[in-house]
Amino acid sequence: MIPVKAITVVPGSSNSLSLREAPEPSPKRGELLLRVHRVGVCGTDMDIISGFYGEAPAGSPYLTIGHESLSRVERVGPGSRGFEAGDLVVPTVRRNCPENCLNCRSGESDMCLTGHYSEHGIKGLHGFASELAVTDSRFVVKLPEALSELGVLLEPLTIVEKGLNQAFGMQAGRMKWRPQNALVLGAGPVGLLATALLRMKGLKVTTVARKPPGSLKARLTVSTGAAYVDVGDVPLSSMEDRFDLVLEATGSTAVALEAQNLSGTNGVVSYIGIYRSQVGTEDAGKVFTNLVLGNRVYFGSVNANISYFRKGVADLVRIKRRFPGFLEQLITDKVPLSRWNDAYSAKGGDSVKTVLQLQQDRH
Ligand code: BGC
Repeated sequence: MIPVKAITVVPGSSNSLSLREAPEPSPKRGELLLRVHRVGVCGTDMDIISGFYGEAPAGSPYLTIGHESLSRVERVGPGSRGFEAGDLVVPTVRRNCPENCLNCRSGESDMCLTGHYSEHGIKGLHGFASELAVTDSRFVVKLPEALSELGVLLEPLTIVEKGLNQAFGMQAGRMKWRPQNALVLGAGPVGLLATALLRMKGLKVTTVARKPPGSLKARLTVSTGAAYVDVGDVPLSSMEDRFDLVLEATGSTAVALEAQNLSGTNGVVSYIGIYRSQVGTEDAGKVFTNLVLGNRVYFGSVNANISYFRKGVADLVRIKRRFPGFLEQLITDKVPLSRWNDAYSAKGGDSVKTVLQLQQDRH
């Protein structure tokens, strides 16, 4: 067996990020062997690298990271139907809990009840920052060749798909809901993808971030027809508009608190960040009174099941068509495997999404 290069950490210990030679994985029954072409880097990866998050697979001293990915099928394991070598694919991140709870067995492991689920590259399963990887074929979607570069954005898009789908579903379930405007907090890849999706739904969108108006984030926002607000200039607390839908995608605890105040009557606030502990002096009574008197909904949403990946594939194609160049410009940093360390170092300036290129060939 030829060893494969994999980017790994020892969960819980910072500074353990390394490139190691791992044994070549072999697909078991129902699995696919994937030749990984692209891996996206996100805040969760950085949390895992800093030792704040992450869990190695049982019996393994390390965890291969990477959960945003784009691969080609290298080999189809016995009993995996519907795939052939060369297919362009993206696997979902989460796998069912051993108890196979109601939601896991219903195809909704993103809503797992026991918390014993596993996640590729995050919790108990090796990830995709590896030349070769294996995964359960039931959790894999195929992509059209038109997405052979951009498909790496599918996983972050699915987080938005779920956050918005749940918000729209909840609102439609409790009243006649005709949302007019939306506020997106954060203009990282997730915030920008949300901006594009909400614009395609015909909403008036305002996206805020901490970058000047001429920055790439601002320009990408405006290119979708959304308004951009630099919170360095206009603090959130001074915003006068109230919004039918607020999507919190900064992961900042302080911004998360502000988000509630920015939703309008009957509004909904969708939280999709992971928030660090921060003890504050917020008036809890005011928060709950605002919630009740305004018929508001504040909810959290994590991960995404395969239905959101299927929807995401169609939406990536639609975004590509509707906003030419938008998705391409989101990927600001392309790092070859030979410089893998650069992919995980802090980026400043106009950086939006960093992608590690594990294959340089046509794909
Ligand atoms: C991933 C999700 C995952 C979550 C929590 C996010 O970065 O995109 O798939 O469920 O982290 O582990």
